[in-house]
Amino acid sequence: MQVIKNYIEQNKARFLDELFALLRFPSISADPKYKDDVLNTAEFVAEKLKEAGADQVEVCTTDGYPIVYGEKIIDSQLPTVLVYGHYDVQPPDPIELWHTPPFEPTLRDGKIYARGACDDKGQFYMHVKAFELMMQTGSLPCNIKFMIEGEEEVGSDNLGKFVAQNHERLKADVVLISDTSMLSMETPSLETGLRGLAYMEVEVQGPNRDLHSGVYGGAVANPATILCQMIASLHDENNHITIPGFYDNVAVLSDAERKALNEAPFDLEAYKEDLGIEDVWGEAGYSTIERTGIRPTLEVNGIWGGYTGPGAKTVLPAKANAKISMRLVPGQDWQRISDLFKAHFEKIAPKSVKVSVVAHHGGAPYVTPVDSVAFKAAHNAIEEAFGKEPVPTRGGGSIPIVALFEEELGIKTVLMGFGLDSDNLHSPNEKYDVFNYFKGIETIPLFYKNFAELSK
Ligand code: BES
Ligand code: MN
Ligand code: MN
Repeated sequence: MQVIKNYIEQNKARFLDELFALLRFPSISADPKYKDDVLNTAEFVAEKLKEAGADQVEVCTTDGYPIVYGEKIIDSQLPTVLVYGHYDVQPPDPIELWHTPPFEPTLRDGKIYARGACDDKGQFYMHVKAFELMMQTGSLPCNIKFMIEGEEEVGSDNLGKFVAQNHERLKADVVLISDTSMLSMETPSLETGLRGLAYMEVEVQGPNRDLHSGVYGGAVANPATILCQMIASLHDENNHITIPGFYDNVAVLSDAERKALNEAPFDLEAYKEDLGIEDVWGEAGYSTIERTGIRPTLEVNGIWGGYTGPGAKTVLPAKANAKISMRLVPGQDWQRISDLFKAHFEKIAPKSVKVSVVAHHGGAPYVTPVDSVAFKAAHNAIEEAFGKEPVPTRGGGSIPIVALFEEELGIKTVLMGFGLDSDNLHSPNEKYDVFNYFKGIETIPLFYKNFAELSK
């Protein structure tokens, strides 16, 4: 432990400088304008893996953005950990709400502000530095493989193929990921599950052209009004989702499991205050923790149509659109849910409009076993580093590729995230606390030590 702390202490400034350099790349996978930046980020990550001591480092091309691979095999008899992370980030907009530019990382009150600071550059880079630490202090106790992708934020379209084609290269005993949150630094936690996702886009088409709202309004269906009515009908008065079949097979937790889940410290008043809301909202009969952890949900991510420019224009728009996503829990199949959504949305459309529905990406939910050697290794590492046992929690977010690792490689994942829900992931002013960054670098080598020992 002291060796770890000393190494971090001596290299603190450089560890931060390197993360800042990584954060300066605008690696926005969703926007083709940033293609070169995304590619340059992959090169940077590869270079850093090499410097840290990885062998076989390769920027593996795909049909989309490359996957950076590197490994250190010290003994083929020893267990192997596969570290997964992503170097791509979400678009920073609305850019005007950032206090400092998203790609000029800024240190304020012990927090690093930048797009990707927490999701996931700050978090995967902890693994690169923890690996360097173990190499430099001669304490790497097992084999390690890195797979850092550049398309997580857009659905990991090409990762599946890469994994399928690289079974041998990716062979490992466990996948280790830091891309989730903890409750707080005072209450460390370990996520035991991720929700799945089904992402849809809908279009409601009314008349064949935009119309004068005085001449035609009241006589022709307004697609924006119809779209709002249709969307509103997707939840009933108890905020249950009304799509027929949506809840079929949803895994039901036992009373004991629900009780345990709700024992996690959660301050509802602080939650509301942080978000600036007077009250929370959600499915009747479930707590906030349950609503975001074990229950499926449906959200409108964006909605548009008609005139949105300055001033006023009296118009009955020809069409209106929305992007709608559903978070899924064990028992729900994202392809089936996408089909159910499409069928239902088309069915509830009045004759006065035409509706089209397309499915974007999706992914399966995931639940981690808590009795595995790897989970115990993570649990004990956190306990040692934080001086407190981690609380098991269910995360609300999705990392769709995790279920695929199990399918393709037959291995489980441990979600050892060090972010906070309040880190503004996907929002303006994303941040990562310097404390969390170094705490992560300190905890990771303990995971390896425990994992190697418990695997014996
Ligand atoms: N790191 C997040 C997922 C996450 C965040 C899990 C916080 C748990 C807690 C990841 O980068 C992400 O944003 N995933 C997307 C899905 C993806 C297909 C775009 C998500 O959850 O919306
Ligand atoms: Mn992420
Ligand atoms: Mn993300």
